[in-house]
Amino acid sequence: MPPSEAEIIEEQIHFSNVVATFEQYAPYSLAANNRRRKDLYTLPQADQALLADIGWKDKLVDIDKAIMANAAFVKQMVSNPEIFLNADLSALAEGNDGHDHNGSNTGFGHENSHSHSTSHSHCQPNHPNSPKPINPNKRYRPTDFDMDKLRSTLKQFVRDWSEEGKGERDSCYKPMIDALLDHFSGVSEEQRSNIRVLVPGAGLGRLAYEIAHLGFACQGNEFSHYMLLASYFILNRTEKINEHTIYPYVHSLSNMPDRSALLRPIMLPDALPSDLPEGSDFSLVAGDFEEIYGAEENNDRDHESQVGMWDAVLTCFFVDTAKNVINYLRVIHRILKPGGVWINLGPLLWHWENNTTNDPSIELDVEEVKTLCRKIGFQLSNERTIDTTYTNNTQAMLGYVYHTEFWTATKISDN
Ligand SMILES: C[S@@+](CC[C@H](N)C(=O)[O-])C[C@H]1O[C@@H](n2cnc3c(N)ncnc32)[C@H](O)[C@@H]1O
Repeated sequence: MPPSEAEIIEEQIHFSNVVATFEQYAPYSLAANNRRRKDLYTLPQADQALLADIGWKDKLVDIDKAIMANAAFVKQMVSNPEIFLNADLSALAEGNDGHDHNGSNTGFGHENSHSHSTSHSHCQPNHPNSPKPINPNKRYRPTDFDMDKLRSTLKQFVRDWSEEGKGERDSCYKPMIDALLDHFSGVSEEQRSNIRVLVPGAGLGRLAYEIAHLGFACQGNEFSHYMLLASYFILNRTEKINEHTIYPYVHSLSNMPDRSALLRPIMLPDALPSDLPEGSDFSLVAGDFEEIYGAEENNDRDHESQVGMWDAVLTCFFVDTAKNVINYLRVIHRILKPGGVWINLGPLLWHWENNTTNDPSIELDVEEVKTLCRKIGFQLSNERTIDTTYTNNTQAMLGYVYHTEFWTATKISDN
């Protein structure tokens, strides 16, 4: 079903609100830091003097500077948002010289309303309220919810595109890539370009990039505008390694062992996104996974049927974004070729649990999900638990470890 006019308008309003959030990062974040200055002046003179002795005000100045550096980076991502509006976003990862980066035809997917119940979410939930109508005379005022998603995007850069994130990537992406290489060990490096790999919920695209870097044809899929703006920027507008410096930890002073942990600069990217094999096929498709890949036959004017089109699907911290995971399992199964493989790693932090928008949410445990996989026609192997973090600040006094489930699921029958 093509989107209705109302849905297209809602989508565009949401996108322009996301752009407004990026643009207003500096005043919003500086105001939050200014609150600390104001609070300082409410203290007794003696306490103010003691804080002056330990350089508290200087620290606030350093935070301001870090915010301004972040703001310069954030602004670059929305310096040309027209490329997204009304655009056919089929190939977000643009071709680099000699590289074919074409994706299938999609537009922006529709982000669904949803709020999240936990503060240590491994993912950004989508907007909780319907977008306010655009009033040309009045600028959208980002909420803390919007800003939180932008701040999470900065941390997502650390996970995907910094040396600092290597440990996290090694524990998540490496076992998945190893399983992929293992499954296709009979395919020579030269022939890998014939193997089509899909990465739904691709985030900032590093896993998809690594797969393309190995010579596979790889497509990422993502529907968050925050992620799409950020991944488009890093994948297509980066010229050199460590071109950017951001300060992703300056937004909260809680659980910091010292000043350097708070003000730690992170350099990006640690790999050059354009560094891909000659003629490689790497694309990032914008939109909702179920809408884009879910069509059963070629009777959807907007989305070509993807039935039996993929050799492998890799999901990292993704399956729990489903309202009804059975549908995700069915879509993954349907789009795989017979004998195709689905490699999964992630927790079950059901994103729609406790949503305030009356969306359905079916929250299953691992055993239930695995039983459903078998019923739908997968054979599971390689099952194990892998401990890993998600956008963790390695120097903070608080960290969450996920005991994620890993499996390789081979499509054995059509059900
Ligand atoms: C927890 S994040 C994981 C990102 C990435 N795989 C990683 O490991 O860093 C889940 C991602 O899935 C995306 N996502 C959630 N539901 C989606 C959907 N229905 N279609 C496409 N992307 C979706 C979110 O926007 C988010 O970027």
